[in-house]
Amino acid sequence: MGFDVGWSETGRRSSLDTSTSVCVVGCGTMGAGIAEIAAAAGHTTYIVDQDAQRVATALANIRERLARQVAKDRLLPAQAAETASRLRPLTGLAELRYVPDCGLVIEAIAEDVTAKRQLLAELEGIVDPSCILATNTSSLSITELAATMVHGRRLVGMHFFNPAPAMRLVEVVSGLETDPTVTQIARSTAAQWGKTPVVVSSTPGFIVNRIARPFYTEAFRLYEERVSDPVTIDALLRESGGFRMGPFELTDLIGQEVNQAVTLTLWSAYGYDARYRPSLVQQDIVQAGWLGRKSGRGFYAYSEEATTGTVATLAPGRCPAHVTVRGDVGQLRSILERTGIPVQETHGEGLVELPNGAVLMTTDGALATATASRLGRPVATVDYALDPHTVTRIDVALSDGADPGLLDDVAGLFAAAGIATTRVDDTPGLVVARIVALIVDQAADALWHGIANAEDIDTAMQLATNYPRGPLAWGDEIGPEQTVRLLDNLRDTYGDDRYRACPLLRRRALTGVPLAADRPVRVA
Ligand code: NAI
Repeated sequence: MGFDVGWSETGRRSSLDTSTSVCVVGCGTMGAGIAEIAAAAGHTTYIVDQDAQRVATALANIRERLARQVAKDRLLPAQAAETASRLRPLTGLAELRYVPDCGLVIEAIAEDVTAKRQLLAELEGIVDPSCILATNTSSLSITELAATMVHGRRLVGMHFFNPAPAMRLVEVVSGLETDPTVTQIARSTAAQWGKTPVVVSSTPGFIVNRIARPFYTEAFRLYEERVSDPVTIDALLRESGGFRMGPFELTDLIGQEVNQAVTLTLWSAYGYDARYRPSLVQQDIVQAGWLGRKSGRGFYAYSEEATTGTVATLAPGRCPAHVTVRGDVGQLRSILERTGIPVQETHGEGLVELPNGAVLMTTDGALATATASRLGRPVATVDYALDPHTVTRIDVALSDGADPGLLDDVAGLFAAAGIATTRVDDTPGLVVARIVALIVDQAADALWHGIANAEDIDTAMQLATNYPRGPLAWGDEIGPEQTVRLLDNLRDTYGDDRYRACPLLRRRALTGVPLAADRPVRVA
């Protein structure tokens, strides 16, 4: 069924052509960036804000950014001048009535349902019925916003990321009522503006904010349980996990209260699902007013004299002269190759025996202490690394009751491979393996719920969060079976639903169908 107020008549079935005007309402951080993108793409772009000063500031900021681009030879002076000349300030919303051929209004006002609904109602009374209305909301439901509109089918989410001119991803969000043609136009318009759009159905957190949750909440949980400190957890996720920044430093940059608000929204929106349970350590620092960089203190201190703290690193002992490998030891195989020490191969359940009697195992989500009790010998579990051929730091946990001196040889062994060893307390799934498994599970769950297709899920996470792999492809690299085993062991150890594996992940673990493959049956 088509949109009944003129889509076919206006012929707007693909992207908006540049003869069509665009209007951006709300010229704060996001609105100014979005207006710059639209103007740079060739549209006459009108900007309006309830606060006239914001319009002036936005125009000045955009001009300044364009000048910087010119100074860096990324833009010709004529192009910068053309973009600037396409930006037209309005003194009030009512002036939109006189804008010729306004095909798209994007609102980027405050994140408040009542304010946005009121604005959308006003807009419907002003612009032509064929004009698409888009919202840059990062957390509100498109369906809920559309519910009070006369033509809710014309509302679509266009979720740009900050800073909008630099970030390539746009989540194009369709609510229950959104006309598929409108979604398609928003998608191709974003692509024409040089962005990479992904289509997502309106669900809490869309793709990115939802799948990224465990990166923060699980790291906070590890700190809450005093498995390690923020500096060390950040270092492990960077140096071993391949993430650009660790969760503590990143949330200090985002603002702790901003990050916490997203978690709280998701937690309540998903019926207080344990997967989204917020963190007490984050609540504490928010209550203390330690909001991150902007307040001079978060998990880290940002004063001149502040020191960051050191990453826990074991002093390496002597490298063992040889080791015995029993069965498939996963990533430990590549690490052993890097050491060059002699390896004796035999059958077994996937462990490395050191001459000192200790056993090394890649974590499968069980406590080192539980595995040691089963095997009747001391066990050191080893974390997962993004790339065992190049990793420079890895964490290990020793079973309770074992002589800590056993770890000297483990650190000696890793040092021979050029790897620094960090000891963390015994915890199921350690740091990187646990967090990555939960991210993979979230991505599988988003696919399971038909929120987006597999390719868009992986693209979104790589573009918006800079993850070293798309989470579904990453899950395939680790192996769906290993991921499920890790999660099952975590769930058994904690007795916590937070670690339940999504049914689609289980299916893929059973069949070997890649996680990055779409579901065989898609229900709209
Ligand atoms: P902001 O506070 O920087 O800007 C909001 C602007 O809207 C202000 O200039 C304000 O005067 C204006 N405004 C408020 N109510 C208005 C109304 N009724 N009519 C006209 N103007 C009005 O906020 P920001 O950060 O730019 O966020 C805007 C939207 O973008 C929100 O929905 C937010 O959730 C979303 N968003 C924000 C991101 C960010 O990192 N800041 C990232 C992605 C989305």
